[in-house]
Amino acid sequence: MRLHTSTWPEIETYLERCKGIIIPIGSTEQHGPTGLVGCDAICAEEIAWEGGRRGDFLVAPTFNVGSAQHHMSFPGTMTLRPSTMTSVISDWALSLAAHGFTHIYFINGHGGNIAPVHTAFAEIYARRALDGDQSDFIMKLQNWFDLPGIPELTEELYPVGAGSHATAAEISVTFAAYPEKEDRRVLDPKVAPEGSITDKNRYRLDFPDGRIGSDPSQSNGADGQKLIDVAATAMVGDVAAFFNS
Ligand code: NI
Repeated sequence: MRLHTSTWPEIETYLERCKGIIIPIGSTEQHGPTGLVGCDAICAEEIAWEGGRRGDFLVAPTFNVGSAQHHMSFPGTMTLRPSTMTSVISDWALSLAAHGFTHIYFINGHGGNIAPVHTAFAEIYARRALDGDQSDFIMKLQNWFDLPGIPELTEELYPVGAGSHATAAEISVTFAAYPEKEDRRVLDPKVAPEGSITDKNRYRLDFPDGRIGSDPSQSNGADGQKLIDVAATAMVGDVAAFFNS
């Protein structure tokens, strides 16, 4: 069940049986020459939608522009400042809390979002504490690529060139979602260089085509379906436990 394609009476009815909601959170940033700019948001929403369907959970709109300053040397990337992102996450969460949602589960597709989302959680909890709010309200951030079974499946599918940006796994998930975009060109170098991230200028010098450590010529829609299936199964169990906590 998706918030965007529900009516308000349907949301009211949902709230009578469940006070939890899933928010997919991603980014709009380059993912190498063959990866989609929306990759991180697409991965999060595909897994959220599949898990939401299986578990009959409500899924909010995708938070699809995140913290991605380091990718700004590549066309199409969009970023929020960490402070902006913290404010916007807070307003999303407090809007839902105002309607009676007590448990918000963020399923995340982008490492750069982790710090600002945790800062947002601290802001929200502090605001509620200072307002003397006694009602129950908790949030959780879960990276889809850390869900039980996903690191193991990734290692099995891609023993070489799994990578840490424009990963073989995340690009497979996008090819499952958008088969017409499947592009298995071998890039040069086949496996991208490894390294650490600082600012956008140095990023493009260190990682000229945008990838870090990955060989996405291995990526394909069939692998993507396997990854979505394992991630959705794990997520449903994790969400159910969280919503009942
Ligand atoms: Ni990504």
